[in-house]
Amino acid sequence: MRVWLLVLLCLGATAQAGAESKQPPGVAVASGHYLATEAGLEILQQGGNAFDAAIAVSSVLAVVESSSSGIGGGGFWLLHLADENREVMIDGREFAPGKAHEKLFQNPDGSVNRDKALNGPLAAGIPGEPAALAWMAEHYGRLPLKQSLAPAIRIAEEGFPAYPKYIALMKHRMKVIRRYPASVKQLTIDGRLPREGELIRQPDLAHTLRLLAEKGHDGFYKGEVAKKLVAGVQAAGGIWTLDDLARYRVIEREPVKFRYKQWQVVTASLPSSGGIALATMLNILEPFDLEAMSEATRVHLVVEAMRRAYRDRAIYLGDPDFVQVPSFLTSKDYAAGLRASIRLDKATPSSMLPGPAAKPEGGHTTHFSLMDAEGNMVSATMSVNTSYGSCFIPPGTGVLLNNEMDDFSSKPGSPNAYGLIGNHANAIEPYKRMLSSMSPSMVFGDDRVAVLGTPGGSRIITMVLLGMLDFFEGHGPASWVSLPRYHHQYVPDKIYLEPDALSRETVQALEAMGHTVVRKKHTWGYMHGVMWDKAGQHLEAATDPRWPSGKAAVKSAP
Ligand code: DON
Repeated sequence: MRVWLLVLLCLGATAQAGAESKQPPGVAVASGHYLATEAGLEILQQGGNAFDAAIAVSSVLAVVESSSSGIGGGGFWLLHLADENREVMIDGREFAPGKAHEKLFQNPDGSVNRDKALNGPLAAGIPGEPAALAWMAEHYGRLPLKQSLAPAIRIAEEGFPAYPKYIALMKHRMKVIRRYPASVKQLTIDGRLPREGELIRQPDLAHTLRLLAEKGHDGFYKGEVAKKLVAGVQAAGGIWTLDDLARYRVIEREPVKFRYKQWQVVTASLPSSGGIALATMLNILEPFDLEAMSEATRVHLVVEAMRRAYRDRAIYLGDPDFVQVPSFLTSKDYAAGLRASIRLDKATPSSMLPGPAAKPEGGHTTHFSLMDAEGNMVSATMSVNTSYGSCFIPPGTGVLLNNEMDDFSSKPGSPNAYGLIGNHANAIEPYKRMLSSMSPSMVFGDDRVAVLGTPGGSRIITMVLLGMLDFFEGHGPASWVSLPRYHHQYVPDKIYLEPDALSRETVQALEAMGHTVVRKKHTWGYMHGVMWDKAGQHLEAATDPRWPSGKAAVKSAP
């Protein structure tokens, strides 16, 4: 049963039905904050393409949603280049500083120091987002970086009104924010939580953004900003060096691509685990007629696919420049083998599938989806990891640093913030990128194209899976984003449900098959998606009702 009524759905830009066209009838943007969506539309209006708009949306989110992403963090930007009919993934993931090592977060007795792994400068990887924005402007945009960053600089300078989620997330992190004077100055109002509607001005951040706008990549990674970042990090006990910043480069990666029935799925490649896990799950599910099954059987099969994909994640996946990841993981034959181990009437206990263990949790990150009128598309998920990242701002920079170092496996068997456990494939090494679950995705069909993704830590991949299955069944973004969610990640061996997901009868049927079902009190994820119905020449965009500050917009081409 769908209980969400408040979907921020925009329907519009319908051209003549049936008219086959290679270009969308307008533009569509869906992001986690209205100012970011409006900045994307503003840049498109000024003649920018989807990639310029993506720079504007990303940078405004960095200013107004610093709980979730920012220029002190990183992300993955999946681009579809309409002219070349090609996709590329911009890997702007953070890497470990050169002085980092496998036991960075271990105490002398071998236990893991969770405070150091999550809070303060040691928790921060070298940021990738500034490099990604400069790269996109240089290689794919039509406008100068300066123009695309202008809305973010303006909002950092003039301020934006504090909103409930921003304040609620800060409340959780206030104790850590209070440790760092520059963080207190930038994020709070004289050391207290902002009240709804109070203006948050960030002059230091505006200055740093301006240097990035004027000088491009080097404006952040060299010179004044780099010196201040390193000085601030080292003074607070961190290990960054100028050389670490000077070494940072984005990497252009071939996305994971595979067919599911008549659909072409294009999604994130390593160092995100998302694409490989989605390929495994959808390859397992492909021969089944899910729509014809009872809800319990369908959920059972999807959960068994999740369990197997997350098992492989824990065992095999890490930065592909450091570890050899087996190529069979995405093959149809491998999936057939996994499928053969699934019983239609009975859960497979995770303990029967050997490998390291995991348990889920929440945190923060952000996603946006957009499309321009030429058919260029961007699906981007960006993060500082948990809410407000490390809570540490090096003085004078305005740059809130991430705590993505916790996405490494600090010690085999020791869970990170999302309960995820890994092994040496994802151990800390200098300059290595930590394994991610962020899964910006696109699905191409003859008649319909979907652009989707979400934050949500370890649950990102299963949310994207459920969104895609809903799209395959003919639904639009309003449905994908509001769909009640369920999740299984191999260990703990439990199906987690959102409060309104699955009926009591379905839960009983799943329990009778041997599943342990846990109904959570809270929801998870903030999926923002757009869809182009090519047959009907129609665009739709929707933001997740679980994140009310979001905004979806569709505008007809003039
Ligand atoms: O890269 C990752 O997988 C995590 N750092 C993402 C964190 C996240 O999605 C938190 N969201 N609620």
